[in-house]
Amino acid sequence: FRRSYSQLHPQSERPSFGIAFDIDGVVLRGRTPIGGSPQALRRLYGDDGTLKIPFLFLTNGGGVTESKRALELSELLGVHISPVQVVQGHSPFKELVNRFEDELIVAVGKGEPATVMSEYGFKKVLSIDEHASYFSDIDPLSPYKQWKTKQMLDSMYNSKEVNPRCNVYSDRVKGVFVVSDPVDWGRDIQVLCDILKTGGLPGKEKGHQPPLYFASDDLEYQAAFPSERLGMGAFRIGLQSIFNAVHDSPLEYTSFGKPNPFVFKNAEAILSNLVYNMYPHQEFAMEGRGHTFTTLYMIGDNPKVDINGALKAGRPWFSILTRTGVFRGKDNDTQFPADLVVDTVEEAIDHILRKEC
Ligand code: G3P
Ligand code: MG
Repeated sequence: FRRSYSQLHPQSERPSFGIAFDIDGVVLRGRTPIGGSPQALRRLYGDDGTLKIPFLFLTNGGGVTESKRALELSELLGVHISPVQVVQGHSPFKELVNRFEDELIVAVGKGEPATVMSEYGFKKVLSIDEHASYFSDIDPLSPYKQWKTKQMLDSMYNSKEVNPRCNVYSDRVKGVFVVSDPVDWGRDIQVLCDILKTGGLPGKEKGHQPPLYFASDDLEYQAAFPSERLGMGAFRIGLQSIFNAVHDSPLEYTSFGKPNPFVFKNAEAILSNLVYNMYPHQEFAMEGRGHTFTTLYMIGDNPKVDINGALKAGRPWFSILTRTGVFRGKDNDTQFPADLVVDTVEEAIDHILRKEC
């Protein structure tokens, strides 16, 4: 029988530690919970279901809004997760909203990339599916594609004219955001080369490359299939190699997500804020709402991304590597050794609670 934090630590003191969970390969594989994740998470709540230990999810994945992901995670894992506890690869895109004001941007990837960007405050957003649909013959291979895109289904079942919020033939695309893993790599690479080469007007002459942002740069990640799947970093390599071969100046881009230390700084600030909301009656340090952590645990499955990120971020981060995802080694990773290697996330929580309580 494994006890929860509140049973081990009945006084209602602010905890001096927090936890960041990677999602794919640590708590889920596809949509299936792994490594005892539901039981492990339950130990971070009191008997009445209130959160006792500040934790968040720090994933490079995404494609839906943080509120939708929080609902989905709550259902799959059986605990209440709030949207502020969900940090996705694309979450920092919201900081760029002022740079694009009313400019047209294109959002790429699985799920609802345009909805995500609109929720962040971007005013003129088209998904790459919608943008491409206004240019007939932009994808010469589409007649050979057997699948039906949402766009096609919408126009089949909903005969009203598509009414773009902008004129794609004269409004330049001023920014491209790869929000989540692209679905139709061939079409997306073609259309992105068109947008990027022409300065945002497919089919027109060459122009200055608009800024291009990727939510993460994961080469591979662990999904439901037994071996790793190619991620956004692999797509970036494909786009970059092809763009550089067909264009005279090399592709310029910025990637967000782990292992960028900025992600870990941001996670620390969110966790500190969570503590403030969990214990509002207690006095906080002179520096305002700031709460100082002795240890912040990053539990991940990918040495290059999760462990490397925690190493770069430095103290108070402590990295724990599980064997349920990308990493399957017997010992530690040689290039990015974690502070601790365990089999599952449940074992990681067991270690943390034993050490902290
Ligand atoms: O597409 C998702 C993948 O890049 C990684 O997700 O949760 O392991 O950071 P995660
Ligand atoms: Mg992972």
